Amino acid sequence: MTAKQSLLQDLPADLDRQLLPKHVAVIMDGNGRWAKRQGLPRIMGHRRGVDALKDLLRCCKDWGIPALTAYAFSTENWGRPLEEVDFLMTLFERVLRRELEEMVQENVQIQFVGNLGALPRSLQAEIERSMSETKCNPGTRFTVATNYGGRQEIVQACRAIALQVQQGLLQPDDIDEALFSRHLYTASVGDPDLLIRTSGEMRISNFLLWQLAYSEMYITETLWPDFDRAEFHRALCDYQKRDRRFGKVKNQK
Ligand code: FPP
Repeated sequence: MTAKQSLLQDLPADLDRQLLPKHVAVIMDGNGRWAKRQGLPRIMGHRRGVDALKDLLRCCKDWGIPALTAYAFSTENWGRPLEEVDFLMTLFERVLRRELEEMVQENVQIQFVGNLGALPRSLQAEIERSMSETKCNPGTRFTVATNYGGRQEIVQACRAIALQVQQGLLQPDDIDEALFSRHLYTASVGDPDLLIRTSGEMRISNFLLWQLAYSEMYITETLWPDFDRAEFHRALCDYQKRDRRFGKVKNQK
């Protein structure tokens, strides 16, 4: 057994290592409902949601899935009650401070995407620190979408490209899908193979609008804080049964 195989020995036997997604994205929905069902305040759901995310990140490492992207806060989430928004901002900061050392040890490379300049200063500082301290790590690429909106991302890419055209650095004919993708926040990590959404909602909710064009979707009724390895295993089994054609015909020569 090679060192790499022994590292991946936890992979459930019914999963085909060759057919694992290379990039999984998650919409972590249902924290509030989970808390309500337990008779707890909504914020307790977010706290438990962090544990579920941490477990999933570790699972990606154990099973050899190279990239995980999580939707932590959307551009629309500012419309939540002020106390909840404040709690989330403080939670992100605290989690980053608490988990950074372990992420460094586990070789995770963390990046944040979204309109980060509008986040509280102290959170921006933790984000910068965590990105710079993990930027050379060769392990799991962990992307956290924070103050992220898919439409906003597309608009900022258009602006950046338009500016280059205005400056004469680009011709309109130079603009193609590959060039456009390079102007998205996710340029270095690519498109997800699999999108998982918890709590049964059948929506994309302004997440990775461009990047999800050909992703497989897995929607489960499970609320995010209850999303565990067994659930992830089910999602991967389901994914491995899919016939990914990317708009072509099966077995096309
Ligand atoms: C959606 O559930 C969840 C969120 C808006 C927050 C998700 C954030 C985390 C799990 C923390 C991640 C932390 C780091 C540092 C990456 P909801 O509140 O919309 O649930 P509901 O639909 O039941 O109300």
